[in-house]
Amino acid sequence: MTFTITSDHATLVEHDQHQLHGLHHPSGHVDPLIVDRADGVFLYGTDGRQILDGMAGLWNVNIGYGNQELPDVARDQMQKLAYTSSFVGMSNPPSIELAAKLASMTHPTLNTTYFASGGSEANETAFKTVLYYWRRMGQPAKRKIISRFQAYHGITLAATSATGVEAYWKSFGLPLDGFLHIPNPNAYRYRGDVKDGETIGQAAARALEEAILREGPETVAAFIAEPVQGAGGLVVPPDDYFPLVRQICDKYDVLIIVDEVICGFGRTGTLFGYEQWDLRPDLMSFAKGVTSGYLPLGGTMISDEIRDVILNAPGDEPWMHGFTYSGHAASCAVGLANIAIIEREDLVSRSAKQGERLLAGLNKLRDEFDFLDNVRGKGLLCGVEVVTDRESRTPDLAKAKAVSNVAMANGLRSRAVGGNTLAFSPSLAITDDEVDMMIDRLASACDAVG
Ligand SMILES: Cc1ncc(COP(=O)(O)O)c(C=O)c1O
Repeated sequence: MTFTITSDHATLVEHDQHQLHGLHHPSGHVDPLIVDRADGVFLYGTDGRQILDGMAGLWNVNIGYGNQELPDVARDQMQKLAYTSSFVGMSNPPSIELAAKLASMTHPTLNTTYFASGGSEANETAFKTVLYYWRRMGQPAKRKIISRFQAYHGITLAATSATGVEAYWKSFGLPLDGFLHIPNPNAYRYRGDVKDGETIGQAAARALEEAILREGPETVAAFIAEPVQGAGGLVVPPDDYFPLVRQICDKYDVLIIVDEVICGFGRTGTLFGYEQWDLRPDLMSFAKGVTSGYLPLGGTMISDEIRDVILNAPGDEPWMHGFTYSGHAASCAVGLANIAIIEREDLVSRSAKQGERLLAGLNKLRDEFDFLDNVRGKGLLCGVEVVTDRESRTPDLAKAKAVSNVAMANGLRSRAVGGNTLAFSPSLAITDDEVDMMIDRLASACDAVG
């Protein structure tokens, strides 16, 4: 069967009223870019627009659009077996091989995966698993989860509660009880107290220790962190932060969930973000780059210690968690093939190299436009802040939105995160010319907004 949608652009716009879109407010859904086709870093709209996608979708299309190998892999797998249950007693070859591959490429302590369909489910799995772990360890009072302001961990009830951005909470009366937020190591605008002689990394780590002591270590189950914070505002931590965090968590028996949903699979210029600071995760959530968005997939990896607790549980207290689509055969086959492409094309080193080019371009723009400041990034996860002036560092949300809108009209898709940070996270396969095109289009937008 061939399947084609023949509706013209105007009809699609009209029919699009029948769906809600993420973070929906109707005022934001005017003149939508209805993407019909994409290739490399470019999106093509049904209205004829060509846009350089500076965000690679939602930080996820790591290998770029239009790859012709993954559709073959998906088709072959679907013809053989698209899906089967992965509940206990059943399994399938692609999920088995992908779990083994992940064990071989991640921190030595992470050897076991539970698959999900995306990042929120992965974090939800992590939260339930830490609750389960502490109950089995005879410490059922350890239930609280500490996260940071400007964190983004997803959109289900618990994941939104761990997210550290008020805008995601206020319409729903969240966060849930038991989710606490502490200052993040944002060196440009740190919101905690800093003692004399302390670095921001030390102050932010101290904020974690103080929160654990205030709540009582016997009530704190886990600390969750993205290595580089993404959707909440693109924050790169100082180098002294994560080593101190690990020490503190070890001291008080608090598990660390590393959220690699954006950082994983090469985005920051290393295979995983935790490698940048040699951070040992107890649990790790991943999604996005594992399939580069060609099919939905996510998952949670757990340490051998946690796995042993699950394996040795009494028969009447199993780890009673499971998604219908866990270990989806076609998604896992595409995940394996996508990782093979990342390795074959050396996209991790490429991310580091092109990230430097992008950062240099952004720094050049900062020299030209005095409303740009705080250029930062790791690999191809970069951002620049739009401020009223550099001295006060006041976020200029309206101007950031205007620059982003004009850039889109000029053919560059970026995303304003944390209100005033223009974030960029293009495909890891982006070429030199395409990085330069991003900078040129952004420069014209800055010029136009003035
Ligand atoms: C760090 C992080 N964690 C979790 C999520 C949630 O993933 P998903 O949207 O696939 O549920 C996201 C999504 O952007 C994310 O950036």
